[in-house]
Amino acid sequence: MDLANKNQINPSKIMQIGMGFWASKTLLTAVNLQLFTHLAKGDMPGKEIQNNLGLNHRSLFDFLDTLVALGFLKRTGLKENAKYGNSEDSNLFLDKNKPSYMGGILEMANNRLYPFWNDLEESLKTGKPQNETKNGGKPLFEAIYANEDRLREFIHGMGGVQAGNFMKLAHDFDFSKYKTICDVGGSGANLSIHIAKNNSHIKCTSFDLPPVGPIAKKNVENMGLSDRIEVSSGDFFMDELPRADVITMGNILHDWGTDDKLMLIKKAYNALPEGGALIVIENIIDDDRNKNAFGLMMSLNMAIETEQGFDFTASDFNQWAKEAGFSSTSVMPLTGPSSAVIAIK
Ligand SMILES: C[S@@+](CC[C@H](N)C(=O)[O-])C[C@H]1O[C@@H](n2cnc3c(N)ncnc32)[C@H](O)[C@@H]1O
Repeated sequence: MDLANKNQINPSKIMQIGMGFWASKTLLTAVNLQLFTHLAKGDMPGKEIQNNLGLNHRSLFDFLDTLVALGFLKRTGLKENAKYGNSEDSNLFLDKNKPSYMGGILEMANNRLYPFWNDLEESLKTGKPQNETKNGGKPLFEAIYANEDRLREFIHGMGGVQAGNFMKLAHDFDFSKYKTICDVGGSGANLSIHIAKNNSHIKCTSFDLPPVGPIAKKNVENMGLSDRIEVSSGDFFMDELPRADVITMGNILHDWGTDDKLMLIKKAYNALPEGGALIVIENIIDDDRNKNAFGLMMSLNMAIETEQGFDFTASDFNQWAKEAGFSSTSVMPLTGPSSAVIAIK
């Protein structure tokens, strides 16, 4: 005990992280039940929440008050006399009826990643993915895209997780000397939409596998940007990439092993003119590999989700980009643990 005090060591961090799944699963369950979407309509007593969400009485107030203690709900009164409402963050980001909703990734975390991460130990021992592809199933994207609900959940999840980064890149990167961009693996066309909205001179192509096309087209139409964003379907293993002044790739390279990463960087190089830019938006791990814990855990997530995927440092990217022929690379910090690494041809 003396030794612990002297060195200021204590077990609280071990407990906080070790039991972190309690907090995580409580929030994910609330999102899945659409609690925050219900409460966005107005504050409610527990009984009304219980009826709306079809909950049993036993843990009702423990569940709601946990969310109060964690800062996701606010409350006046106690138990039967209490009224619950959303905190400001929950109201903006977790109400499904708002465009700022980012619960898609949390729904996916609840429904897919949470059960798959239970097999992290197996992943570490075998090096094999632990998702739908386990036991010889189809590869990741085929498996997800085989089911319409899963496809939508995945596309919306991706859009939510990158929203802050896409906004910042569309705003901070100097697009003035470029006329066209192609977002490779553009999913729901979210990045193209942000870039087109912020840069009125730019024309975009959002390139992805065919099943994604209709969802991307609908998003582009809803934003009134069909004249400036083309949704193009193809397969980046089979096809060359559409030519453009700027090629963007958001969370694409981390899905694949080193050879495929190099092949994609080389294809981007071939599709760019002299002076063109490849912009890669990911949770770039710091070069010392001891600070960006989220980036490192994303790499573990790629081990769970893919055959050979892994996250990487700016220094790794620089090496691959130089090998593909690019002349220089740089890093632009985006939101939280994410950065853009940029290679110029
Ligand atoms: C992890 S998601 C990233 C989506 C988006 N760029 C982002 O930053 O959120 C990877 C994307 O790559 C697409 N993709 C996977 N394999 C592909 C292929 N062979 N050709 C084209 N796109 C592919 C997927 O459909 C998916 O939209």
